[in-house]
Amino acid sequence: MEILSLETSCDETAAAVVSDGTKVLSSVVASSEALHQKYGGIVPEVAAREQVRTIIPVIHEALERASVGWGIDAIAVTYGPGLVGSLLVGVETAKALSWVLNKPLLKVNHLLAHIYGAFLISPDPALPPLPAYPRIEFPFVALVVSGGHTDLLLMKGHTTYRWLGGTRDDAAGEAFDKAARLLGLGYPGGPAIAKAALSGQAGAVDPLPRPLINSPDLDFSFSGLKTALLKRVSYPSLSYSPPFPIISPLPPLTPLTPEQVNLAYEFQEATTDTLTHKTILAGKKYNTSTIVLCGGVSANICLREKLSVAAEKEGIQVLVPDFKYSTDNAAMVGSRAFFAPSVSLGELTAEAGLNY
Ligand code: KG4
Ligand code: ZN
Repeated sequence: MEILSLETSCDETAAAVVSDGTKVLSSVVASSEALHQKYGGIVPEVAAREQVRTIIPVIHEALERASVGWGIDAIAVTYGPGLVGSLLVGVETAKALSWVLNKPLLKVNHLLAHIYGAFLISPDPALPPLPAYPRIEFPFVALVVSGGHTDLLLMKGHTTYRWLGGTRDDAAGEAFDKAARLLGLGYPGGPAIAKAALSGQAGAVDPLPRPLINSPDLDFSFSGLKTALLKRVSYPSLSYSPPFPIISPLPPLTPLTPEQVNLAYEFQEATTDTLTHKTILAGKKYNTSTIVLCGGVSANICLREKLSVAAEKEGIQVLVPDFKYSTDNAAMVGSRAFFAPSVSLGELTAEAGLNY
């Protein structure tokens, strides 16, 4: 079964064709990231306008690369959570396609879609056949860690799952983005912090706090960590982000200072320590043999490595998406739609604040 899927919840415009839930026949992602750089964050209106402009060419490209023409079996779309103007672009396009082609319209929760990124394979005819890929076996614990969410879920089946805990304030990805801004590293913050941290040294600065790391619950908190970092940044021009003007400094062209790289290193350590600790705690508490790490922050190599090492000690396997399926993409949406089809019969609307 071939599903054409669309994803427009944030600043990406993405379309994919996925076969039987795991084989990615094509995955096209256009991002308006560059347009947001000078503002230091996403401007929703700019993102939505760009999505209106690019969605049709992106869909055409995905169908062409998959060599399926319009011969698809269903259309899937992310309907929340996300930026409402952006979501609407995908939802309205998917509705129109479903109506014109007379194919079922499947609605997908973006957060649950991230989990399925870990089970995707991209067959490339130019390469030898891929090794057998892990089958989806329940139960497992999923850490969904993105720009807007940080949640631990116990997945008992495709449609039976339990929210175990999550952030009480900011999401980890949001903290990465703001930390990068404080350190003058530019936008998007996650990759910028990770890159700067490569030149940082362990123990070069006093440790930052690891909020809630010793609490027995499965919750996280990142806003105090941001404040702790703000207090450490010694150069006042970067330590304060006034509400106006909103134009933030572009990444410096000069080499980064030891303060920047060492604080980036310590911030990454603090964030990944808490994420790892609570995820392992969840795996042990619910006695699962698998943990799925997903969402944009799962692209962080330090987090991938820390979690894998800690899980191995407990005899737990960690599954992570290929890097191209860590951050927002439509292939994960097509996969979720295959395994947990939710046919939209009535009028589908975008739900910006959708939860689980
Ligand atoms: O899932 P995603 O692409 O979009 C949302 O659903 O939010 O996640 C975006 C988040 C951003 O906050 C970005 O800074 C973060 O993922 N991110 C990273 C890395 N790559 C992206 N965070 C840490 N390290 C990375 N390498
Ligand atoms: Zn996402």
